[in-house]
This record gives sequence, structure tokens and C-alpha cells, in this order.
Amino acid sequence: MRICCIGAGYVGGPTMAVMARKCPDVRVDVVDIDAARIAAWNGDCLPVFEPGLAEVVSEVREKNLFFSTDVDSCVRDADIVFISVNTPTKTYGYGAGRASDISFVESCARKIAEVSKGGKVVVEKSTLPVRTAEVIRSILAGSGMDFQVLSNPEFLAEGSAVRDLENPDRVLIGGDDASPGGRAAIDLLSSIYERWVDPSKIIKTNLWSSELSKLTANAFLAQRISSINAISALCEITGADVDEVARAVGSDSRIGSKFLKSSIGFGGSCFKKDLLNLVYLCEHFHLAEAAAYWRAVLDMNRYQKARFSRKVLDSLFGNIRSKRIAIFGFSFKENTNDTRESPAIDVCADFLNEHAHLAFYDPRVSPKQICAELGVDENDPRVEFCPSAEEAADGAYAIVLLTHWEEFVLLDYEKIYATMKKPAWIFDGRNCLDHRLLLEIGYNVCGIGKGNLS
Ligand code: NAD
Ligand code: UGA
Repeated sequence: MRICCIGAGYVGGPTMAVMARKCPDVRVDVVDIDAARIAAWNGDCLPVFEPGLAEVVSEVREKNLFFSTDVDSCVRDADIVFISVNTPTKTYGYGAGRASDISFVESCARKIAEVSKGGKVVVEKSTLPVRTAEVIRSILAGSGMDFQVLSNPEFLAEGSAVRDLENPDRVLIGGDDASPGGRAAIDLLSSIYERWVDPSKIIKTNLWSSELSKLTANAFLAQRISSINAISALCEITGADVDEVARAVGSDSRIGSKFLKSSIGFGGSCFKKDLLNLVYLCEHFHLAEAAAYWRAVLDMNRYQKARFSRKVLDSLFGNIRSKRIAIFGFSFKENTNDTRESPAIDVCADFLNEHAHLAFYDPRVSPKQICAELGVDENDPRVEFCPSAEEAADGAYAIVLLTHWEEFVLLDYEKIYATMKKPAWIFDGRNCLDHRLLLEIGYNVCGIGKGNLS
């Protein structure tokens, strides 16, 4: 059995590494048109940082896991081809700014039709608008060979990808369950996952349910964050504490405690793009009220980020021009080097508009990447990159914590306080620090949904 995955990104790389480890008798080829990315997967410094990933890759790479740019021959020789390419928001033409750009997926389907010598099982791993499998099917049908198209969306979260892949809440497989060929394809893919996933966790549905379930899952998760963030604004005015409210509300077993952590807003490559896609689909099918409902989740997220940067500005007397501000963390969440749609981008852009001097420290994100996200030059006098959090805070008027890296929780804030300008502020955008202790040290402290702590 040979598997080929097109797309060696945050999903393709980790997913196939775990699959190769769990199926030592299966050869897994991960291919990409990005030669630099493939070289990195074959080198010592993997392009994706995930706890535990380097160990998995080193165990199976060059045994039954191979990274290559030879798309044609790997696709041709595979029995199962996963499509795990990016599906960003369309930036041009009809549906720009909302619809998903499925051009990369379409070119994969065309490539499979072009190079294959016989039928295969083609699996959508990318997150796609509902009914994309129809597009793939009709392209493959032109080849005259017998292809089966399945939807098998990925639910891993960055920062915990290996754990999520090894022990998923569920595996979703959508296929043409009305035909014997479709059922055989579903069973084949299921048999691979059954090597390590309990069959009771493998959900089989029709294609469209599977495609739509992925968008819905992300929309629900994002909605919970926007819901608690909306409450955080109310907490700040009324003196309620958002973490206490989340705890009280989340202990209702019908609601549950996860994804109720108030923050500066959600980031990451998918929540925004998938919500936009859902909004677009609703509008396309003339469901204006449903579209408005999901759009509000995004509006709330934008509001939360803007509210936070405004709070920093107002606290520092409405003036941060030339003031040194220490930025703790830039990735969109902890334990990843991914900065796509990180809330830090909007918050820092607001500070730069005010001509602040930003001193960055993130344990995994390079200065080059931060500059690319902010559209500034590394030599821009408004930005500085520090080798440690302590050095970023040295001489700063404020610390602005944007990512919940564990090392920020463990810092010696008493020592840091002594090196800062007074009054020294901490803006905890993740509510992860001990605010009582910080107040005792002498900081002015501002969390999310915490009322006035200074
Ligand atoms: P990514 O941008 O990290 O990786 C995609 C890769 O596909 C890139 O390396 C790109 O060069 C390659 N590619 C594009 N077109 C190609 C082609 N024609 N041939 C060969 N390679 C090609 O994207 P990602 O974060 O891995 O996401 C991939 C998909 O998975 C998206 O649809 C996303 O919504 C979904 N998803 C992502 C996550 C996540 O945590 N990042 C989780 C679940 C689902
Ligand atoms: C999310 C989903 O959790 C995955 O199931 C899904 O597969 C993936 O999107 C995807 O389709 O790409 P991810 O974006 O990697 O995963 O990370 P999350 O843990 O969901 O965090 C997203 C953002 O929400 C982060 O900025 C995080 O800090 C924020 N967040 C999360 C909160 O602000 N509060 C919370 O309670 C949880």
C-alpha cells in the first residue's frame, strides 16, 4: 500500500508523520511544489514546530516516510492520495475576501487525473466549501479511470498536533455510501485509522455532511471564544471577573468548560477563513440571517483586538509615541511558530501607528517573520528584537503579553519590575499571569475582563 499526500504544510507534514509511524508497512510520500519546505522537512530544522513532532519524524523518515518535490511519480504510484493543500480566502474576483480559493485543490485534482495510470482513492484533507468533492469528481471523471473521492477533514489544533493525531476525539470519513465502490473506499480509509483509533470514534457520513461538519466545528469553536469575549467587555465595566464567570458557566455539563478562555481574540490560519467561507456559503444560498449570525462572531473578534490596543493606549495617557513597549509573544497561540492571523499582528500594528517602540520576544518566531507580518523592515527604528523576555522589558513602560507561552508565567517579575520605567504596566492579553502577585510587586495590571486592577 502506498499513500501520497499533496501539501507538506502544518497539516500534511504532522498528519502523515503520525500515519507513517502507525502503519510501518505502508509507504507514505509527502510532496510539495515548495522545494525549500521539502528541504526543511528533510533537514534538522523542521518547517513546523510542534511538541513531539521532531521525534516522530526522525523515527520514520527515510524508512516509510519520504518528503519530495517529485509530485508526478509519487502521485502516480499511490493507492490513496490525500489533498492537504492550502485553501485561503479568495483575494480576487467574485467572492473576494470571503469565499475559499480552491484553485490549489483543483490543480491537485487535475494533476492526479493527468499522471495516474489507474483509479485511486482521493481524499480531501483540506478544509473545503461544502460540495467541493463534486468539482474533484468531475475533473477525475474526465480521465475515464475509476476514482473514489472521500472527505476526511482534519481536526488537529496547532501546538498539540501530535497528541491530537494520535488520540483524536473522532475521525470523520465522508463518501459515496450509496455505491459499492464508495463503501469500499470508506472502509479502506477506515482500516488505516483503525490501526490506532478505536472504531467507535470513526464517524462515517455522506460527503456533504463531512465537508460541512468541518466548517461547522470551527465556527462553533470560534463562536464560543467570541461569546466569552463579549462577556469580558461587560465584566470590565461591572466588576465581574470573566474567568470566574467562565468557570461557573462552563461547569454546566451542557455547556462544558473548553474554549471559554477569554483573550485578545482568536487567531490562526483557519477560524477567520472558515467563518468567512461559511458566511459566503449562506449568502450564496440566500440565507441572509444565517450569514449575519456567523459574521457577528468575526465582528466580535475584531472588536476585542481593537478594544485591547485602545486600552493600552488610554492607560499610558493616550501617548505611546517613542515609548518602549515589551511584546511578549507573537505566535497566534502557544507551542507553535505559526503567526498566521495572529491577534498580535493587529495589536502591534495599532501600536506602530501610534509610533511606539516595540521590543519583541517570542521563543519560536523569528524577527524576519514578525517583520513580514507587520510589513516593516528589520532595521525600522520602531522595532527591536530581543533574545529574552527580560531584555525586551528592560527600560519599557509596559509589558504586553500576547501569547500564553509557559515561560512567561515562570518569569521573575520582581526582577523585571526593577528594570522598567515607572509606573510599570502589564497588560495580560491571555489572563495567564498571577495578577495579585504583580499588584503586590507594584505593577499596574490590566487583564481581559477583570475590571480595574491598578
Ligand atoms: P499550509 O499552507 O501550511 O500548507 C499547504 C502546502 O500545500 C504548502 O506547502 C503549499 O506549497 C502546498 N501546495 C499548494 N498547492 C500545491 C500543489 N498544487 N501541489 C503541491 N503542493 C501544493 O496549509 P495548512 O495549514 O497545512 O492547511 C492545509 C489545509 O488544512 C487547509 O485547507 C486548512 O484549512 C486545513 N486545516 C489546517 C489546520 C491547521 O492547524 N493549520 C488544521 C485543520 C485543517
Ligand atoms: C483550530 C481548531 O481547534 C482545530 O480543531 C482545527 O482543526 C483547526 O483550527 C483548523 O481547522 O485549522 P488552531 O487554530 O490550531 O485549531 O488552535 P486553537 O486551539 O483552536 O486556537 C485558535 C485561537 O483561539 C488561538 O488564537 C487561541 O489562543 C484562541 N483561543 C482558544 C482563545 O482565545 N480562547 C480559548 O478558549 C481557546
